[in-house]
Amino acid sequence: MKYQAALKYSIPRGTDDILPAEAEKWQWIEEMARKTCHLYGYQEIRTPLFEHTELFQRGVGEATDIVEKEMYTFQDRGERLLSLRPEGTAGVVRSFVEKKVFAEPQPTKWYYIGPMFRYENPQAGRRRQFHQFGVEVFGSADPALDAEVIALGIHYFEALGLTRVRVEINSVGDPETRARYRKKLIDYFEPYKEQLAREARDRLYKNPLRILDSKDPKTKEIARNAPSILDSLSVAAEQHFGQVRKYLDVLEVPYVVNDRLVRGLDYYTHTAFEYVVDIPGAQAGSIGGGGRYDRLIGEFGGPDLPGFGFGIGMERVLLALEEQNVEIPVQKRLDCYLITLGEAAKAAGMKWLEALRRAGVKADRDYMNRKMKAQFKQADRNGARFVAILGDDELKQGKINVKHQESGKQETIDLDQFISYIKENCRRG
Ligand code: HAM
Repeated sequence: MKYQAALKYSIPRGTDDILPAEAEKWQWIEEMARKTCHLYGYQEIRTPLFEHTELFQRGVGEATDIVEKEMYTFQDRGERLLSLRPEGTAGVVRSFVEKKVFAEPQPTKWYYIGPMFRYENPQAGRRRQFHQFGVEVFGSADPALDAEVIALGIHYFEALGLTRVRVEINSVGDPETRARYRKKLIDYFEPYKEQLAREARDRLYKNPLRILDSKDPKTKEIARNAPSILDSLSVAAEQHFGQVRKYLDVLEVPYVVNDRLVRGLDYYTHTAFEYVVDIPGAQAGSIGGGGRYDRLIGEFGGPDLPGFGFGIGMERVLLALEEQNVEIPVQKRLDCYLITLGEAAKAAGMKWLEALRRAGVKADRDYMNRKMKAQFKQADRNGARFVAILGDDELKQGKINVKHQESGKQETIDLDQFISYIKENCRRG
């Protein structure tokens, strides 16, 4: 085959092709996510891959890395400012408000699986197009719900066969807590102002909590002795956090309290948490994270209803599965491979092949004019359990030869028994 050497396109940096062998693994981790969600009464929601930029500015927060540095933002031909979604929560909350789902009995329990986009420095487990499995629950402020959602994620990891996933949990409090803590942080960081990284300095009065999340070594060192938010919690915030921990204990979900956990998004109130698993080689951080956001629905023009959710990074799930040598069940591609010899058999074979498929048997044939031996090889390569050989002579006699690949046993059977024979034997495995 000729091709023009000049026409060489490469995949955009930080994105991946998921080829069939890999796609099977994706199907499995997605299927387990769906199954787990259905066990907990969650339904799927699908929202657009892009939204008005303003939604993320308001929702995720102006002074976050995601909005400041990582969004894919563009103007469409109608001069609207749009962004590829860097995360799922903002769009899902927008939909909940816009479609007035708040008017229905609450809580609303939704999940989603799909691509997100962030302009990040790509590495293993940190991609520019990546995929999240997320859940969002609206309408309930019950701390038992926080515990349920955290447990749902753990249930999912266990269903996949992943072990050693730790839960880190913190409370970022309510507005009263935040106001008090903000002041304490500013008081603490002000004397070090000149030593802080530029970005941290810029955020000192805008969003001092973000400084705790800084990657700059010097800023990190200074932040180490900063006051703990847990000492600033209001009575209500302290109560909520205590209850969440109690319910996690009830559900036997182990966790550690990490009072430095602030998360990279601004919408959180009360509970913030992360799922952490060690993936050597991938400086990927957490495999998932989320928390409570009690003001976002109101901020998006809805009623004053609370929300809670998480996002789990599917690329990181696959990396962790690989790291822990978890075997992912893969399906055999074919049940039956049909070989025909002669023109009449070819035409009849087309019909039988279609009949097999209609009977629910995964079947295929050769379209490359291969020799018989090469066709057997093709059958093996596709994991076919049976190879059926139909020649013009057999066709005349109303017979077909069927070979069971594993045992090597070969039988001649009546054509009118063919479909039921294959079906029956495939069911038996
Ligand atoms: P997030 O912590 O920004 O939270 O992302 C959740 C997870 O997505 C991360 O823990 C990580 O596994 C994965 N992730 C994030 N960025 C990347 C990337 N560039 N490449 C690969 N994986 C990545 C959220 O997005 C919130 N919306 C979670 C949430 C839902 N909170 C409440 N509801």
